[in-house]
Amino acid sequence: MSDLLSKILKLVDSNNGVIQNTLQAPELANIDSNTLHSALSSLWSKEMVNFTKIEQDQWVLTKEAEEYLKAGATPEVQVVDEVLKALEGLTISQLKEKLGPVGIVGQGKAFKNKWLSKDGDKLIAQVKDLPTDFVLQELETIKKTGSLDDKKELVELKKRKLINLMKIVGYKIEKGPKFALEIVNLETDITSDMIMNQSWKTAQFKPYNFNSEGVYPQSGALHPLNKVREEFRQIFFSMGFTEMPSNQYVESGFWNFDTLFVPQQHPARDLQDTFYLKDPVKAKEPEDKEYWNNVKQVHQEGKYGSIGYRYPWSADESLRMVLRTHTTAISSALLYKLAQDPKPTRLFSIDRVFRNEAVDATHLAEFHQVEGVIAGYDITLGDLIGFMDDFFGKMGVDNLRFKAAYNPYTEPSLEIFAYHKGLKKWVEIGNSGMFRPEMLETMGLPSNLRVLGWGLSLERPTMIKYGVSNIRELLGHKVSLDFIESNPAARLDELL
Ligand code: PHE
Repeated sequence: MSDLLSKILKLVDSNNGVIQNTLQAPELANIDSNTLHSALSSLWSKEMVNFTKIEQDQWVLTKEAEEYLKAGATPEVQVVDEVLKALEGLTISQLKEKLGPVGIVGQGKAFKNKWLSKDGDKLIAQVKDLPTDFVLQELETIKKTGSLDDKKELVELKKRKLINLMKIVGYKIEKGPKFALEIVNLETDITSDMIMNQSWKTAQFKPYNFNSEGVYPQSGALHPLNKVREEFRQIFFSMGFTEMPSNQYVESGFWNFDTLFVPQQHPARDLQDTFYLKDPVKAKEPEDKEYWNNVKQVHQEGKYGSIGYRYPWSADESLRMVLRTHTTAISSALLYKLAQDPKPTRLFSIDRVFRNEAVDATHLAEFHQVEGVIAGYDITLGDLIGFMDDFFGKMGVDNLRFKAAYNPYTEPSLEIFAYHKGLKKWVEIGNSGMFRPEMLETMGLPSNLRVLGWGLSLERPTMIKYGVSNIRELLGHKVSLDFIESNPAARLDELL
């Protein structure tokens, strides 16, 4: 490298301070452009030279053409040579034997050039002497200069696959402000040694390069779902909510369904909708036998003023293990706990749930739910609607519509719709309702402590926010890491 550096400096000096194009400088033309570039960068950082890149098209010989150069003749001339040499005459198959595939190529060209004709199987020379090998001369010129004056011939040779056009890079080099023939090694740091021996006084320092991009620091990146999740968390915290511990994917049917007054024949509990565990098959019986029994009763014969569903409730069914189908299983467990010390409460969770669903561009068998519950004395459906306006208002969604719906655990239930300005239509953004007395009073909550709840998917707003149309680009093995790393933080103030 240092040889190359001083070679460049000497050359610049002997060329009156400027090399117009390294590709035309015989001493540098054969050095590969990357090597040359790093040498020039090193001299430039010492302010010894300035340089600019020159891109140039150049014709280069193919391997085939190089072979003809080596053989000293193009196929057509080789063929004529063989025919002239053969005193007895030459047949096509004899020629093939002598020259192989080159014979076939050369024969065609030689016919075309009228150097050769055919008499039956015999090849007859139409020239007395070996013709001048113009094509070979052209190839030699191209090898030397990278070009040819006769542009028509260039096209011809390209067609014959004897030459190819390549982009090559050269440089214009000029003296820099600190040009010298000797390279001084510039110091990059002051060391304690330099201070002690006073050499810092005379040392030459490398200037800072403020244009250098520097090395991009390697670091982890939050997944877009995590960014949007964080945004939701902050909204919940700002509204006085506490986060529920939701870090368990497996629930018993009891907590996922029965405590929520979902009857055991409900289609949501079918194998087609819910993933059941093979191992362990069965959950432990709940410790609170009284609650366990009250849940049974409220389903089977009714209690707390409800007539119930009136079907034989099965303990085995409620002890089946499931991948939770909604985070409402967690809400249920926390509301049950709240019954020990009932008071107005705001709780939320954002976590993963599982449903045995047909997978398509917008659905996977697992997704994340954003869920909130509010317990308050004598709160009503009006509070639910008012709160939804506030909650979604924090995301810039201020035009909500509600539609009566059905959930086994809420009555009344409302689907929440918002107007999507981009899609120009009303889209469903959530599901909500007032939890049923059959659920709350069984837990032991006082009947005037009413609880409202709502849920939405985390994926939906994330896909809207980041413009992702296929869920597989967001979750799973097809996700591009680049997409994860380069996405900005989410701001939910304008969700739709
Ligand atoms: N569990 C409901 C769902 O999965 C959401 C919801 C939660 C609805 C709480 C009402 C109350 O869609």
